[in-house]
Amino acid sequence: MTTSAPGVHADAPQRRLYGRRRGRPLRAGQRALFETLLPPLRFALPESGTLDPRSLFDAAIREVWLEIGFGAGEHLAYQAAAHPDCGLIGSEVFEPGIAHLLTEIKDRPLNNVRLFIDDARLVIAALAPQSLGRAFILHPDPWPKERHKKRRIVSRETLDQLAVALRDGAELRIATDDPDYGEWIAERVAAHPDFVPLPTDPRPADWPPTRYELKAQAQGRVARLFSCRRRARPAGP
Ligand SMILES: C[S@@+](CC[C@H](N)C(=O)[O-])C[C@H]1O[C@@H](n2cnc3c(N)ncnc32)[C@H](O)[C@@H]1O
Repeated sequence: MTTSAPGVHADAPQRRLYGRRRGRPLRAGQRALFETLLPPLRFALPESGTLDPRSLFDAAIREVWLEIGFGAGEHLAYQAAAHPDCGLIGSEVFEPGIAHLLTEIKDRPLNNVRLFIDDARLVIAALAPQSLGRAFILHPDPWPKERHKKRRIVSRETLDQLAVALRDGAELRIATDDPDYGEWIAERVAAHPDFVPLPTDPRPADWPPTRYELKAQAQGRVARLFSCRRRARPAGP
C-alpha cells in the first residue's frame, strides 16, 4: 500500500506503509463517528511548504505535542485532558484504533485534539522546525524479523526529522516491550547528537501505560521506557 494523504507535498516520496489500515468491519455507530466526528478533527498536509501545527487549533495553546501510532488513543486522550493548554496531534492508520479514540472522546469536551489519518512519517517530515513541544512513540510495531527491521519507525531518519521539529528542550518519549527493539532504540537514541537521555525511573507521573503496555504486562513482559530532551541548538551568528 502506498501513502495517499490528500494535500501531501507534491515532491513527497511515495513510501510504502507497513501495517494494516483495516481490521474487523466497523460497527454502524463507529462508521457514523467517522462521518460526523472525524472530519472536523482530521487535517491534511499543505501542498507545499511546512506545516505550522498551531494553525490547526482554534484556541490559544501553549505548544503542540505529537503522538505517533496512537493505537486505540487512550494515551492521546489522557494527555489532551491532562494538558488542556497543549494541542495534541495524533497519527494513526488502523481504522478500529481510530474508531476507538473517536468513541472515547465523543462525549468529552476535548477541543485540543487533531488527527492525521495517514503515515506518521509524512507529518513528521512536514512539520515546521521547532514547532513541537513533545513527541511520543509508544510501543511501535517491533518488526522482529531481521529482514523487516528496516520498517521500524524508530530510525536515524525519524530521529533526525524529530530533531528538526522539536523545539530546544522538548521531550521525546519512546516505549517498547520488545527486548530487541529496546536495544535498537537505546543505541539510536544514545548515538544521536541532538538528544540527551533523561531518567525514566521513577516513571514520570503523566506517563500512563498504554493499552499495549498493559497487554505486555499481563503477558509478563516489562516495558522499557525512553525519554530524551532535544539538545539546545547552538546560538546563531
Ligand atoms: C503496536 S501498536 C501500539 C499502539 C499504541 N501506541 C499503544 O501503545 O497502545 C502500533 C500502532 O502504530 C500504528 N502505526 C504503525 N506504523 C504507523 C505509521 N507509519 N503511521 C501511523 N501509525 C502507524 C499501527 O497502526 C498501530 O496501531
